[in-house]
Formats: sequence, structure tokens, C-alpha cells
Amino acid sequence: MSLPFEIPPVPDESAKKSPFTPTFGAIPPLLADRQSLINDFAYALDSGPGARGRATLVTGTRGVGKSVMLRVFRDVADSRQWLTVSARATAGFVDRLTTARLPEALTQLDTANTTRTRVKGGSFSALGFGGSVDTETENTAPVKPDFHHQLMRTLEILDEHGTGLLLTLDEVHRSHLEELQEVTDALSTAVADGAPFAFAAAGLPETINGLVNDDVSTFLRRAERVNLGNLSPEGAAAGLRAPIEAAGKHIGDEALSAAVESSSNYPYLVQLIGDNSWRAAGSAEEITLDHVREAAASATETMFRQIHEPTLANLPEREREYVAAMGTSGGPVKTATVADQMGVPTSHAGVFRDSLINRGVIVSPRRGEVEFNIPYTADFLEAEQTKALETSTRGLWYSTQSERASAIAETPTQDRESTRGGQSSAAAGSVDDAQAVEAITHARKNHAPGSANSAAPATPETPSSSAYRPPQQRSTDQGIER
Ligand SMILES: Nc1ncnc2c1ncn2[C@@H]1O[C@H](COP(=O)(O)OP(=O)(O)OP(=O)(O)O)[C@@H](O)[C@H]1O
Ligand SMILES: [Mg+2]
Repeated sequence: MSLPFEIPPVPDESAKKSPFTPTFGAIPPLLADRQSLINDFAYALDSGPGARGRATLVTGTRGVGKSVMLRVFRDVADSRQWLTVSARATAGFVDRLTTARLPEALTQLDTANTTRTRVKGGSFSALGFGGSVDTETENTAPVKPDFHHQLMRTLEILDEHGTGLLLTLDEVHRSHLEELQEVTDALSTAVADGAPFAFAAAGLPETINGLVNDDVSTFLRRAERVNLGNLSPEGAAAGLRAPIEAAGKHIGDEALSAAVESSSNYPYLVQLIGDNSWRAAGSAEEITLDHVREAAASATETMFRQIHEPTLANLPEREREYVAAMGTSGGPVKTATVADQMGVPTSHAGVFRDSLINRGVIVSPRRGEVEFNIPYTADFLEAEQTKALETSTRGLWYSTQSERASAIAETPTQDRESTRGGQSSAAAGSVDDAQAVEAITHARKNHAPGSANSAAPATPETPSSSAYRPPQQRSTDQGIER
């Protein structure tokens, strides 16, 4: 019996595989524009305890390359024969570090045959555990050690072996503040003792800014900040062309310029457009302008799903209104115009503007103007409006807080870092439904069909039961763990 679908043929051996990595956390085939950061981190490891950069906080918007940087730092540590312990800062991470990751690191040391380099800065002794690497004995200790104890024990043993420990924490979020404080308290003690360790953590800007500004811990405040931004146009071009050529295809100057332009120099898009172009070219040796155009068209949908939805759907209500009031023109917008669209004084709208800047959603290219920071945000808003119109729902931008709350209640817990609970939602204050409806009505009035900067969809008078449901966060297969 024939199948009711067609199975694509297995590609033959000669088919060339795409070199691109449009996967979160995957080290790209060419890591553009980040060499100086890598050099700084290596320098910190080589310089001894207390060196700047031995504690580093990596921040930047989604898809800019934070997880990749942590992975690269791990490779740097590895090149110095340091051990690495890594975790995502999700609930229970301190326990996972204490009971699994740190003991595993010691096991690695037990079985490693390599000669480890001597850590500069002399040895330290904190707990008097030095000398033993018999992890079996340590693991079966009757009293379950806490993180501080386990860390100091590990560091002392590593120091005895002339090596050090890099601890990386990805997706740091304020909702696990107590756990984070437990870790940073222990790390402060380790710093004071001159222990051989380095720490690198990554999180979204509002989280990292919040942690530093609120002075959650002196250790974090003193940490080196790495604010990742978009690539330079040259970096994006190199990030596209070099992997294509290394993997056996070509791309001409015109097609390359178009690919760079469509990527907006945004790291995730460089991978996505590179990968889509490769696929569009099929068995052809040359990636042409047509292939790039096809690639760019399909990349936007993926961007919407992977970047815009998780970033924008979790914004507090008033901040979503601010974003909606910026409209879909794509270029810079005057802050006074946005405030006017929202129906609030400019100073009041400024609170939402500051919070959105802090989150990396918008930037202020010059005084009195704002613009979207993530490429294709305006296209996303436009697509959302069209969807809302077509389906006669209120859509993402005009659902009320209670609708969203019930939608969230029906949605399985999100695993990915959410912007909810960030510092800025407190700044925005709680907005009740009546206020929201009032603001929506105002926005609708200001966005009458045909008006120049029309941002509001024609919403039905009665709230639809099919309010926008926040998307599920990216499936876990998007984030590979090494
Ligand atoms: N310097 C770079 N040059 C080219 N591509 C890069 C660079 N840095 C990261 N990428 C690519 O960008 C994508 C996103 O990287 P990564 O997962 O590290 O982002 P992130 O900031 O951790 O995102 P999120 O906030 O969603 O966790 C990946 O596909 C990665 O391969
Ligand atoms: Mg990440």
C-alpha cells in the first residue's frame, strides 16, 4: 500500500551540508566580531585570582549570542585545562550544582590523564579538604553539603591539582534571586580567599541591569559587563561568506550584500538567512540573489515565532501599548507622538519607554525619538494586526490583562526565561482592565483607518473569547547542551 505522503529521498553522499547554525546556543561556523571579548576572558584566566573579567556578566537581547559566548568561554577555560561547571539558572539550579555538577567535575579530575597547568596566584586553603580527590568517599558523606561547602571543597581540590574552575550560569532571571544570592555569596568568599575560579553569567538586559542596579550582590556589581550588540556589516558579511565558501559553495557580491541587509547584522538572522539561502540553492554551486530573497522571506516567519513572540508577548500591558503606539512604519518615531497615541503625557509614557529600552526592545537613536531594536519588529506588528483583522480577534496588542492571565493559566509553564516579574513591570505599575480598555479606545480613535501612522487593528466591540495566548516558548530542542 502506498503511503499517503511522500518521503523525501535521502540525499546522496555528495550533497553538501549547510554550515550554518540557526539554533540557539550553537557556536556558529564563524564567530564574527567577538574575538576581543574572547581575548579579554582568556587574559583574565591567565592573570590570576582577582583579575577583572574573572567574573563576567553577558547581556543583550534575544538571539544576539549570549549563550554562544558562555560556550566559547568554556572552550577558553578548557584550553587552559580548567574544569567547567555549567547550569541554566532555572528553579533548583543551586541544588543541581551542589549535588550533581560539582561532584561530576571532581570525578572528571579523578579520571583525567592530562597534566593540568598551574593556576597563577598561589594556592589557597579554605576548608582543609586539600589533597583528596577520592570523590567516591566525598560523595557518600552522610551530611549533604550545601553549595558553599561543595564549592570551596571543589576549589581547594582543584587548586591542589594546579587548576581552576569556571562556573557558567545561563538564562539568569530574577525569579530565582534567592538561589542566585546563595551562589554569589559563596563566590564572594571564594574571591576573598583567592580561590582559582571564574564566573560567567548571561541574561536579558532588564535582568542583568536590575541585578546590578539594585545591588543584589557586591560580587555581581563588581563583575565585568559584556553588552552584546549586533554585528558590524563587515562581521555579518564575513559570517555569511566564509562558511559558504568553506563548505563548498559561492556567493557573489550582490547576493551577499542582499543577505547582509536582510540579516540587519543580527547574529541569529545571519545564521537563519545563511541556512535558508543554502537550502534554497539546493544542488547549485552558486547562491544567487533569488536564493537570498527566498531565504529572507522565510526567515521573517521564523523570527516572529522565535524572537518577537517570546519577547513581546510577555511585556506588561502598558509597554505593549507603547510598542503598538509606535506603529508599523519601522523607522524612528517621536516619543511625543507615541505618548499622544497612548493618550498620556510624554513624561508618563517615558516610564514605559525607559523600561522598553532597558529590556532591549527599543532604542533611542536620538533625543526625543525611539525605534525598534530587534529587526522586523514592525513587520511582526503588521502581521499581528492583519491576523487580528482576519480572525476578528482582539489580537496580541489589545487583549486585556485578565484575558492574558487566563490564557497564561491555560498554557503549560514556560521553560524559557520570561520577562514577567522583571524590574520594569514594577515600574510600569499594575494597570487594571478598565484603564487598559480606556487606553485602547483612545488608541483606536487616534488610529482611524487611513490615518498616516495607523497602528490599531479594527477591533470588535465585544472581547473575543479567542484572546491571544502567549506562545509556548521555544521547544527545548532549540537549545543544545554540550
Ligand atoms: N558572533 C556571531 N556571529 C554569527 N552568528 C552568531 C554569533 N553569535 C551568535 N550567533 C548565532 O546567533 C544565534 C543566537 O545565539 P545565542 O543562542 O547565543 O543567543 P542568545 O543571546 O543566548 O539568545 P536567547 O536570549 O534567546 O537565549 C545562534 O544561531 C548562533 O549560532
Ligand atoms: Mg541563550
